[in-house]
Amino acid sequence: MIKSLAFPPQVKLSPAKSEVPCQVNARGAKMELTLTRPDDWHLHLRDGDLLQAVISHSANHFGRAVVMPNLKPPITTTAAAVAYRESILKALPSITEFTPLMTLYLTDTTSPEEIKLARKSGVVFAVKLYPAGATTNSQDGVTDLFGKCLPVLEEMMEQKMPLLVHGEVTDTNIDVFDREKVFIDTVLRPLIQKLPQLKVVMEHITTKDAVDFVESCAEGTVAATVTPQHLLLNRNSLFQGGLQPHNYCLPVLKREIHRQAIVSAVTSGSKRYFLGTDSAPHERRRKECPCGCAGIYNAPVALSLYAKIFEEAGALDKLEAFTSFNGPDFYGLPRNASKIKLSRTRWKVPELFSFGFGDIVPMFAGETLEWLPSAI
Ligand code: DOR
Ligand code: ZN
Repeated sequence: MIKSLAFPPQVKLSPAKSEVPCQVNARGAKMELTLTRPDDWHLHLRDGDLLQAVISHSANHFGRAVVMPNLKPPITTTAAAVAYRESILKALPSITEFTPLMTLYLTDTTSPEEIKLARKSGVVFAVKLYPAGATTNSQDGVTDLFGKCLPVLEEMMEQKMPLLVHGEVTDTNIDVFDREKVFIDTVLRPLIQKLPQLKVVMEHITTKDAVDFVESCAEGTVAATVTPQHLLLNRNSLFQGGLQPHNYCLPVLKREIHRQAIVSAVTSGSKRYFLGTDSAPHERRRKECPCGCAGIYNAPVALSLYAKIFEEAGALDKLEAFTSFNGPDFYGLPRNASKIKLSRTRWKVPELFSFGFGDIVPMFAGETLEWLPSAI
């Protein structure tokens, strides 16, 4: 494998002759897009060496990111969220305007008092629900939402604190490809009925069932984030030419009909969907091993891939709302003031990023992409 330390989006590349940067080429294809700086509404930044290794890939392109709390140990208190935020700010390259939005990890024992503290802190942005055992570091998650967490959810509704949901049941009798649908039927729909004013984001949706569910809810109260992998890949990508650990994430990739339903939903211009990469770095040996971790590292390629998806759907005019407007509008935050540029310049995704502790393999490693993001 070729090792790569540098990453193209910070490098000024000269366009090929036929690609003189202008808004539109002779065939009417857009050559350059200017977007309000996007935000990433679902991101895993990790801590320690891994945090240091990955943070600039997100900070270079995104204005804000909702930072997931599934560390070891998880971020279950406001005090831990404040400390985690400090370590993220310390790890940031000095000339970035990146703002981490912190989350609390919901457990069976989270108290309504903690939610009051979280709101008062001004640091905690939302609470993340991991059903216990659903994914990476979720063993301390919720075992019985309605039995154990109702008072907390009521307090969240009171405090206008959004609930971010990993929407999968963990019952091993349920087929892994059906876990999202069963979660919607047995947990999410009843939850919305019980607490209709609770702001809920169904994270990283993967199925037509999730699209139908989101569309059936009140706009502005229930929304969904969508990853590049669930828009671009179907479950065949897990097995193409052999087992592909770098395409393994949770919720797992689904059938083509589901992928198509999600693409139609996000490229329709609906305000219910916004960008959430779920970029989830793991050191290479933790992916390429007998029991590999779930998680796709897509932060370096996410914007290029979203642009590709919208372009292929003939919906480039809807890209900016998805990347930069729908999220802040849903959460009642201002849209970012600065801009970024995407140029139609071919660039090669590094095979891997190498660090002292090991390597991280990005999504689409070694492949050539078209849209190259850069700051303006
Ligand atoms: O694939 C995933 N990886 N899905 C998640 O929900 C968690 C994430 C991680 O933290 O690695
Ligand atoms: Zn995630």
